[in-house]
Amino acid sequence: MVGLRDDLRLALDRVAFARALGLEPDSWQEDLLRSDADRVLLNCSRQSGKSTISAIIALHRALYHPGSLVLALAPALRQSQELFGKIAGFYRDLGRPVAPQGERKLSLELENGSRIITLPGSEKTIRGFSGVGLLLVDEASRVADELYFAVRPMLAVSGGSLMMLTTPYGKRGVFFEEWTSGHGWERYEVPASECPRISEEFLEEERAALPSWVYRQEYECSFEETEDQVFTTSMIERAVSSEVTPLFGVG
Ligand SMILES: Nc1ncnc2c1ncn2[C@@H]1O[C@H](COP(=O)(O)OP(=O)(O)OP(=O)(O)O)[C@@H](O)[C@H]1O
Ligand SMILES: [Mg+2]
Repeated sequence: MVGLRDDLRLALDRVAFARALGLEPDSWQEDLLRSDADRVLLNCSRQSGKSTISAIIALHRALYHPGSLVLALAPALRQSQELFGKIAGFYRDLGRPVAPQGERKLSLELENGSRIITLPGSEKTIRGFSGVGLLLVDEASRVADELYFAVRPMLAVSGGSLMMLTTPYGKRGVFFEEWTSGHGWERYEVPASECPRISEEFLEEERAALPSWVYRQEYECSFEETEDQVFTTSMIERAVSSEVTPLFGVG
C-alpha cells in the first residue's frame, strides 16, 4: 500500500511510480516516463512493452490529476480488454479494488473523480466524449483514420495529451503519415534488438520462420509495403519515372 508521502513522490516521478508497481523500466520506457511531451508516437517491436508502459502512464494520469478523463483506444475488443486488464491489474497492485461492473464496461472510476475508459475503436463509440486529459491509441497503425479524425478535437478544449503506440502496418494510414512527416511529435523507435527480454536466439528463429518483410515489420519497426499491394511502391515509382527507360517500347 502506498502512503501519503510516497504518493507525493510518485505523483512527481513516473519512474518511481513504475517501480512502485514492480516494473523496472527499459531505457526507452524510462525516457518516456521522464518526458513531459504531450504528443508522442511509439513505433515499437512486438512484445517490447508498449502497452504495459502506456497502461502505467494512463493510471498515473488518472491517479494524480483528479477528475481527469483518460481514454484508451484499440482497434478491436480483444485488444481493449487486454489493455484494460493491464491498467486494472496495476490498480489492484496499489491495493485498490476494481468494481466488477467496471470490469465489464472496461472502465475504471477512481475515488478522486478520474475515469479511465477503454474502448474498441470505432468512430461511433468515441463521439460524445469531451474534456479528455489523455488519449492513448494502442495498435494505432491498425486504427481507422476516421477514428483518429474524430478523436483529435476532443483534446482541443482540454489541452489533453495524445500518445499513439504501435507496431508498423504498411505504408498507409494516419500513424504512418504522422511518423514520417507529422510535426510536433516526440518519437520513440524501439526494435526488438533493444528489448532485453527478447533474445537473439529467438529473433534468429523468427527470421528463419517468417517472410522477411513480416520479420522487418514485427521486429524492426519497418513500414513494409501493404500486404495487398502487388507492386511495391518503388516498382511503381520506377514505372512512372521518366528517368527510367520503359521495358516495352512506347507506341
Ligand atoms: N520493463 C519491463 N520489465 C519487465 N517486463 C516487462 C517490461 N515491459 C514489458 N514487460 C512485459 O513484456 C511483455 C510484453 O509487454 P506488452 O504487452 O506491454 O508489449 P507490447 O509491445 O504491447 O506487445 P504486443 O506487440 O504483443 O502488443 C509483458 O509480459 C509485460 O509484462
Ligand atoms: Mg500491446
